[in-house]
Amino acid sequence: MSAVAAGADLSSRAHPLDPLSKGELESLIAGLRDQGVIDQRHLIAVVQLEEPSKATLARFRLGESVERAARVTLLDRSSGEVSEVVVTVSGRVVSNRIIAGAKAPILSTESEMAIAAAKRDARVIEALRSRGITDVETVRMETWPIGAQIPKYLDDGRRIIWTPMWHQPTPAANFYAHPISGLHAIVDLDSGEVVAVENEQQIAVPQTPGPYRQSQTGAGVALKPLEIKQPAGVSFSIDGHSVKWERWNFNIGFCQREGLVIHDVWFDDAGEMRKIAHRMSIAELVIPYGDPSQGAYRKNAFDTGEFGLGNYTNSLTLGCDCLGEIVYLDVAVATPNGIVREIKNAICTHEEDFGILWKHVDVDGNVEVRRGRRLVVSSIVTINNYEYGYFWYFYQDGSIEFEAKLTGIVLTLADHLGTEHGSATELEPGLWAPYHQHILCARLDLDIDGGADEAAGVRNTVVEVDSFAHEMGPKNVYGGAYETSEKVLRREGEARRVVDPFKSRFWKIINPGRKNHIGKPVGYKLLSGHTTYPLAKPESRIGRRAGFMYHHLWVTPNRADERYPAGDYPYQHPGGAGLPEWTRADREIENTDVVLWHVFGTNHIPRAEDWPVMPVERTGFHLKPSGFFSRNPGIDVAPAPKACH
Ligand code: CO
Repeated sequence: MSAVAAGADLSSRAHPLDPLSKGELESLIAGLRDQGVIDQRHLIAVVQLEEPSKATLARFRLGESVERAARVTLLDRSSGEVSEVVVTVSGRVVSNRIIAGAKAPILSTESEMAIAAAKRDARVIEALRSRGITDVETVRMETWPIGAQIPKYLDDGRRIIWTPMWHQPTPAANFYAHPISGLHAIVDLDSGEVVAVENEQQIAVPQTPGPYRQSQTGAGVALKPLEIKQPAGVSFSIDGHSVKWERWNFNIGFCQREGLVIHDVWFDDAGEMRKIAHRMSIAELVIPYGDPSQGAYRKNAFDTGEFGLGNYTNSLTLGCDCLGEIVYLDVAVATPNGIVREIKNAICTHEEDFGILWKHVDVDGNVEVRRGRRLVVSSIVTINNYEYGYFWYFYQDGSIEFEAKLTGIVLTLADHLGTEHGSATELEPGLWAPYHQHILCARLDLDIDGGADEAAGVRNTVVEVDSFAHEMGPKNVYGGAYETSEKVLRREGEARRVVDPFKSRFWKIINPGRKNHIGKPVGYKLLSGHTTYPLAKPESRIGRRAGFMYHHLWVTPNRADERYPAGDYPYQHPGGAGLPEWTRADREIENTDVVLWHVFGTNHIPRAEDWPVMPVERTGFHLKPSGFFSRNPGIDVAPAPKACH
């Protein structure tokens, strides 16, 4: 195991796509303070790498140095105004503009302030007392954006937050077992005042505990040790954040808003470096809840856009989160007050045995089998009750996979015993877990077979491929024949698509300018996995705010300022921003530098077995070469040293 520190490298040696280091963040924040751009009125909402253009990146490859810069989003607490400052890591301000109408995401200091204000509020204390809870310090509150219609009397443009509550009868008790339903404070984030206390229903606090810590459960089901040993070391190398493994080359990135990012993916095809992707990230994660009961109907959180998912990145533990020979990378994030916080062991890179890569037993008895291995780059975040693992896998057959691992504790509410509660599962008497969906949106800036075109952005085209059968007749004499139909998605309007398992639908991103050995354009296909479709009505508040959910695929021409599918500032946004807004222009997307947006996720109908901590649930997608290579790249993989015969 080794840890690579995010050092204070301010020199141009840092790769232009490296995450902002602790030293860089400290330097640029100090610069903004010195110049009065940040003063005591400001909180830092997010600091992101101001990524170089593809042309700049191409010049960097030719040896030119690139001045690294950041985009700093500031909240002016005195006015509620949001501004974005582009500043070099040495503190030179490049631009500074106010974002009209934008509302900042929830900042950790504001959450703490809101919870403290709610706990001091006499109405809250009295309402708790009437429920038999006399010590407010035994109450756990979370801060949630109002993800639905804001109460009319508060809907005057102010930025507010509400606080679901749970009781924690003993210090280590799983408080999600004890929801205090019907009681919430609503706090004005700018004034810091409790502006409303909702105390609508007296429902008994469920009392069945939900222990899950080993110290509480005595969990003892154990297996014999399984050790992963790599006596000759790992097969990958990491230089800064640049990774080489097998025939893959890419850069690991990190964003305070999106978390883990993969940049600049290339594959060494028999000595020719071929580009596949420029940037891949999960640009939004929204969780619409489907329970209409008081409080629960508001639980529609944008974990990326409203919380800044990267802020909540875990420090990983060797042998637990990742197994084997691990290389960890640390990351750094700016706190609202401008202190830079390092997260140790934030990103894990390791290799995993992945069963057989391919096999054939010939008629003469000859056996050819190759073990497969994959390179895994992962990180895990904890946002309130839930954990999300983001796992990127690189395979020896040229494919890439993304998998989100969902775990943690399901959100809970209380209701009367024996009631009919149509949109939730009863976990324990009176304890319910509301139905909800986890909907992720990957932003895939692929550059299929870029080569020399890289600087201008590689020109790709997206094709929808369906399988179909002709009616029985001359084109289908025996009834078993089927074909594929390919439809080029020419404009944004045609490229709003949904999955169709009845047609075995997939999408191919091709480079019309690069032909393979049989004269077809080279390409990769996007293969959706297990997914879902939103149940929230499109005209609902959450339906409007997360309009991107209603298509599994969107394709847009690449624009540096089109990064987030629900818009840059989803907090209390009335809706319509992001993909629905941009694609209304119906821009041309054929044979241009395109971005694919893939929406996927799960519909979570909680099970009794999801309690007290849910076992990992997975959702994701594959990118597989489709005529990109002339044959299976796995053929070049040597057999395991000890012949498997
Ligand atoms: Co869930």
